[in-house]
Formats: sequence, structure tokens, C-alpha cells
Amino acid sequence: MKYRAVFARSIGWAAIVLPVATSAAAHDIITTNLTFTRDISRILARHCIACHGAESSIPLVTYEQVRPWAVGIKEQVLTRRMPPWGAVKGFGDLTPDYGLGQEDIMIIAAWVIGGAPQGNPALLPKLPAPARTVSSSSVEDALTIETRNVLKEGLCVAGVNPLTDTVVDSARVIAKLPDGRIEPLVWLYHFDPKYRHNFLFRRPLNLPKGTVIESSAPLRFALETAASGTDRRKRLSHTQGT
Ligand code: HEC
Repeated sequence: MKYRAVFARSIGWAAIVLPVATSAAAHDIITTNLTFTRDISRILARHCIACHGAESSIPLVTYEQVRPWAVGIKEQVLTRRMPPWGAVKGFGDLTPDYGLGQEDIMIIAAWVIGGAPQGNPALLPKLPAPARTVSSSSVEDALTIETRNVLKEGLCVAGVNPLTDTVVDSARVIAKLPDGRIEPLVWLYHFDPKYRHNFLFRRPLNLPKGTVIESSAPLRFALETAASGTDRRKRLSHTQGT
């Protein structure tokens, strides 16, 4: 621990035994096998450092940067305020899905409660630069819905675009198909229009005429379809690339 080494040097060896024991009792009772280098850094790399990179106001890249924020990080992820993705992972088949899964949330919480140890720096993975863009250029708003609507004709839906100006605490958007099946579309949770983006499906959903689209809470949102001209643009960029 860097600060202990510095402390030891400044007060000299004679006094070191007691201060180290005290500082260990105050800060470093480690009761977890989870470590920053092996377990936490990869979660932060995937879900946080696109916004909390080295240049940001709250950098969360190195252990020295993360450690003072440990308790705050635990609170932010347990209450699902961070990352501000705005939807519950696993409800609807989204891609990309930057939501933090329950398991990762529990790993972070257990690491913080267990004393937030660093672990062996040699285990720190080489972190790839995070790619974090939700491309909306390939879709467009096809139908605007106020909380509930019945499709008058079939629609191939590529995603959901929340059109809200206020924070949405919780709103589950589902499609009830005429044959009785229910398709989960997206569960907005602490969705903040400050971090507005579309939620796109891995595969477009073919919703037949008569499908009921419904949000569990008042919500204005648009259903997305593939933008007209997308195929042509794709072909163009493909020819240019080769
Ligand atoms: C899309 C960008 C973005 C992502 C991704 C993101 N954050 Fe943040 N975070 C912010 C911004 C902006 C703030 C500044 C305060 C605010 O707006 O609430 C912040 C603030 C924080 C704070 C300080 C909160 C306080 O006490 O004021 C913590 C801790 C935090 N983020 C942790 C995380 C963690 C952990 C992750 C990943 C699981 C994460 N963030 C992912 C944008 C992001």
C-alpha cells in the first residue's frame, strides 16, 4: 500500500509497528477474495470507463482512483443509478446492452463490503478501449405511442425510443400479440433523458396487426423501424471499404 510505505518512511522504523496495525484496523480488514485487479477492473472497463476515463472528472481507471470512491460506487450500482443506461438487463433482447447484470452488481457490492482490496497488479487485464456508441442512424421513429396503442397494421419493430423529458423511475414496455404471447420490449429503470438513447433489439420483431403495445407507467415513446435507405447506405459503405 503506497500510503503506508510513505507513512513508514516519514516516521521512521521505530514507530512503525503500531501505526501499521492501527491503519489496518481502520481501513483494511479484508474479508473477500474478490480483488480490483482480477474481478472489478474488467467490470468497470466494460461498463464505466467510457465515461469515467482518465480524462474525466471522476476517473475510475486505476486502483488509486477507484478506492476512494468504493462506497459511492457500491451505492450507485445497487440503486442502478450507474451506469446510466436506463434499463434493466435481460428484459427484452437488446443489443448493445450496457446494463449491469445482477451478478456484476453483487460482485462490486461484495468487494466493497469486503474491504475493496487491490489484489495482484500482475493480474490486471490489458483493457481494450471501450466501444460505446448506440448507433441510431439505421433506425427511425415509425409510430409514436402514449402509454398504450393497438397496431392497426403489422410492423417490423427494430427498437424503442423513449420520448420523455423527465426521469422515468420504472416502466415496462411489452407487446401483447393477438395469439396471447407476450414479448418483453424494454424495462426502463431510472431512465434519465440526460443520457438519451434508443434501445435496439438484437433481431427486429415482426408484430402483427392487433398487437397491443403497452407501458406499465405513463410514457411517451416511439417504435423504431429500419430507416428507409439503410440497405443502400450499407452497400455503399461496403463498396467503399473494399
Ligand atoms: C454514460 C456515461 C456514464 C457511465 C457509463 C457511467 N457513469 Fe458514473 N457518472 C456519470 C456522470 C455524468 C456523473 C456525474 C454526476 C451525475 O450526473 O450524477 C457520474 C457520477 C458517478 C459517481 C459519483 C456519484 C456521486 O456520488 O456524485 C460514481 C461513484 C459513478 N459515477 C460510478 C459509476 C460506475 C461504477 C459506473 C459503471 C458501473 C459508471 N459510473 C458509469 C456518467 C457515467
